[in-house]
Amino acid sequence: MLIVAHRGASGAAPENTLASFELAWEQNSDAIEGDFRLTKDGVIVCIHDDNTGRVGDKKLVVVESTLQELKVVDIGSYRAKKFSAERISTLDEVIATIPVCKKILIEIKCGTEIVPVLVSQLRQSNLSPEQVVIIAFDADVIKACKALAPEYQANWLNDFETDFDIEKILPVLLDIGADGLSSNNENSKELVDAVLALGLSYHTGWTIDDAAWAQRMSDWGASSLTTNNPEKMRNNLSK
Ligand code: G3P
Ligand code: CA
Repeated sequence: MLIVAHRGASGAAPENTLASFELAWEQNSDAIEGDFRLTKDGVIVCIHDDNTGRVGDKKLVVVESTLQELKVVDIGSYRAKKFSAERISTLDEVIATIPVCKKILIEIKCGTEIVPVLVSQLRQSNLSPEQVVIIAFDADVIKACKALAPEYQANWLNDFETDFDIEKILPVLLDIGADGLSSNNENSKELVDAVLALGLSYHTGWTIDDAAWAQRMSDWGASSLTTNNPEKMRNNLSK
């Protein structure tokens, strides 16, 4: 089961920054997960929210701001003074941190407008298709990715912790051409079994920091788990 660093090693460094991604590699993560959206001038940048208010020292709306304007915002100090140099990163800058054979999970946080830009950038990058996984809550985004660039794995994300109807999930996965499902389902082996029976992969929900949960998901056949503390998780799983 691959260990994926959620927004980088965000348990110890400010989320979605180069510091958190570098730390994730130092902690021997198999992959990093980051959140991406488009700026006003069409650059793909790494940030979770649609504005910089929660993590920044200044509130700018990403889609209404240019990269140059966004680069002024300090997105590290909210965690600790030592991170005050952290700035919003472009996808290219994040890709440049990825060691050979390691992977990136690119979560698309905006709509399908990003897809042609993303595909073109990925194809020009030095990453092989095997190193890239696209994820999104928006089923239309996954469908657009698979239609334009079937060579990249794309998994549908869902928040299935509570109430869900497996009979409604499976047709969506097939319709959009997803390669797998990623959900934070903690309890339903039935859901995992149903996804695997379709020949698709299953990925555990994000921010699993609990070793027993992680082990259960591994036993059920999950291909990856996403955690804020990759080093701790790897140590726990190898016990
Ligand atoms: O890995 C999926 C997870 O990152 C989705 O939730 O809110 O952390 O982007 P969020
Ligand atoms: Ca995410």
